[in-house]
Amino acid sequence: MEPGMDDDLAERARKLFSGPVEFLKSAPALHFLPDGDAPEIAFAGRSNVGKSSLLNALTGRKSIARASVTPGRTQELNFFEVGSPMLFRLVDMPGYGFAKAPHAVVENWRRLVRDFLRGRVVLKRTLLLIDSRHGVKPVDAEMMKMLDEAAVGYRLVLTKADKVKASELAAVVASTQVEARKHSAAYPDILVTSAETKLGIDELRAAVLGDAAV
Ligand code: GTP
Ligand code: MG
Repeated sequence: MEPGMDDDLAERARKLFSGPVEFLKSAPALHFLPDGDAPEIAFAGRSNVGKSSLLNALTGRKSIARASVTPGRTQELNFFEVGSPMLFRLVDMPGYGFAKAPHAVVENWRRLVRDFLRGRVVLKRTLLLIDSRHGVKPVDAEMMKMLDEAAVGYRLVLTKADKVKASELAAVVASTQVEARKHSAAYPDILVTSAETKLGIDELRAAVLGDAAV
């Protein structure tokens, strides 16, 4: 990469995300998807991992994606348009690993997510969010396997970094890197973020813009 390229990307990303970002629609099933006429970057992770909060931090809005205290509230694919004219879409995916979810809800989730991942040609990248306090859990490893099988490249993003001590954070980064290396479609580098302190948000913006390649 040429010197200065990263800075240019970071600056473009900062400008873009401080500009228009609009909620487009919720899709509870595949036939509600918007036309695949723009690149998409999806956000996935366990219920309560902080997807909506991270989307809000990324876009500098307080509640563009509804951040809830009730795990499992986001049950659809939620689409957001970035830029005016729109350059790409962000997709907030429904959370998984919600212990109390009925079997039918879990099956519905699995079908929706798997079909979306496999069939969505414009999906450029997925960001798989992992709670800094917990690291990669078996349900996350299952999600990683689904992404490997769909051949959708993904970045592992640690969330809520403000909730753990520096020493614990270093340990979870190391263990998450070990997990990433076991999966064919995972990026080796781990992003560390906090929606609370905005740690890593600039880096995440640049990564998203780079992945959308617009
Ligand atoms: P679902 O949509 O239900 O799957 O959850 P989600 O992944 O969208 O999580 P959400 O953003 O709603 O956050 C869940 C809880 O974690 C909320 O109480 C947030 O305030 C909190 N939270 C999210 N991000 C952070 C963070 O970076 N730091 C801290 N301290 N709390 C956070
Ligand atoms: Mg949410």
